[in-house]
Amino acid sequence: MGATRHRITILDTGEVYTCPDSVSVLKAMAQLGRKGIPSGCHGGGCGVCKVQVVSGEIETLTMSRTHVSEEEERAGFALACRCYPGSDVSLKVVGKMQKAVKRPYGFV
Ligand code: FES
Repeated sequence: MGATRHRITILDTGEVYTCPDSVSVLKAMAQLGRKGIPSGCHGGGCGVCKVQVVSGEIETLTMSRTHVSEEEERAGFALACRCYPGSDVSLKVVGKMQKAVKRPYGFV
């Protein structure tokens, strides 16, 4: 495959992994066995994978306005299961399970 790979940095945990531009940011993390972004439905419906892109470019599929308003989208918020990297990306976890991410062994 000729996919371009980008570096994803999860600022909350310091986790860094590689994500092809054809794979969602959440799926690439899960495929590599990495943790950091909470994972739920993988279909844009639950909102637990919500992140804020701090630097870099992403392409997003349609996202539920229940979880990401237009205003938030313009401010860089996105659902990790619905976004694909267009460059190296740094992001913060902002979804419902954000607190679990920050506990050393609290990720479930
Ligand atoms: S995992 Fe449910 S919205 Fe992304």
